[in-house]
Amino acid sequence: MAKKRIKTKITKSINIAVKEILKGNLIGIPTETVYGLAADATDDNAVVKIYEAKERPLFDPLIVHIKSIKEMKKFADDIPNEVYKLAEHFSPGPITYIVKKKETIPDIVSSGLTSIAIRIPSHHMFQQVLKKSGVPIAAPSANMFGRISPTSSDDVLKELKGKVNFILEGGQCEIGIESTVVSFMDDEIRILRPGFITKKDIEKVLRKKIILSRDKTRKGKHSQDIFSPGMLKSHYAPKTPLYITEKPKDFSMLKNVGILDFDNYESLQDIAINLFADLRKLDEQGYNFIVSKKVKDVGIGMAINDRLEKASSGKVKTLKWELKFIKK
Ligand code: TXA
Ligand code: MG
Repeated sequence: MAKKRIKTKITKSINIAVKEILKGNLIGIPTETVYGLAADATDDNAVVKIYEAKERPLFDPLIVHIKSIKEMKKFADDIPNEVYKLAEHFSPGPITYIVKKKETIPDIVSSGLTSIAIRIPSHHMFQQVLKKSGVPIAAPSANMFGRISPTSSDDVLKELKGKVNFILEGGQCEIGIESTVVSFMDDEIRILRPGFITKKDIEKVLRKKIILSRDKTRKGKHSQDIFSPGMLKSHYAPKTPLYITEKPKDFSMLKNVGILDFDNYESLQDIAINLFADLRKLDEQGYNFIVSKKVKDVGIGMAINDRLEKASSGKVKTLKWELKFIKK
């Protein structure tokens, strides 16, 4: 029998969102970074629905969102002091800590790893859902696996229409790119995914150098090193191929090419806020391909370049008149 199609509604009601979560259903939820696809992290059956809806492979672990740093002990063991130091500065906010997992969270949430990703979101609606539901919430970005993360409720609707009953309306995301993911496993501190909170910000608080993983391999130098699928080469990708070039403007003479340039933005932060939304708009135009340029590789520029690289097809394309794309 065909599955009944769900009519997805956008709501501002925290109560509806809480009820859905406690029923074991999924909801679209706003965060300060990007919209998430949320479920009760303690409910295996609810968490499975996340993987199904996103068509996300089960080996790609989810982030667990909690209301306060105090709660972290319930879900993680041997939390290093450095986590608390960073949390004092940056949580609630766009940073995720990878720490040793406790059994209070089902294995499916962290794909069977010994570690768990924990974040305390600052968006006031997410905070209210956490407080009223009383459960930790697993939530990846609310896009189909490998696609562009949504930064508005409309974007979520485009990605997940018919797959969730409700999307909680929380306005445009303030930050626009996903949280910085920092691992504390294997006695080292390593950024697995750059974000709004930069390597420098973290080093300033900890007063020591940390590692930024930019290698595209699955394994690090230790046997325990986790495979963080956010480090996969292709991710955040539009359906239209995206190429990185030094001179996107040179392509303006071509009709069927979309140009993602950042000339109208005053800061790297502005670029980050609008990056996914701009990419999504271009993706909807039916261009043959899109070209874009990397930004200055400093601070949040590193996170922007990371997303651009992963969104790009990575192919070299040389046009007749010698415009060379840069290979990743
Ligand atoms: O800003 C954000 O982090 C958003 C909002 C919704 O909170 N969430 C988000 O989730 O971006 P997601 O699932 O799209 O990305 C989480 C990343 C993935 O790259 C995943 O592989 C990694 O975190 N991750 C999760 N648990 C991990 C773990 N135990 N070890 C290593 N990487 C992990
Ligand atoms: Mg994602």
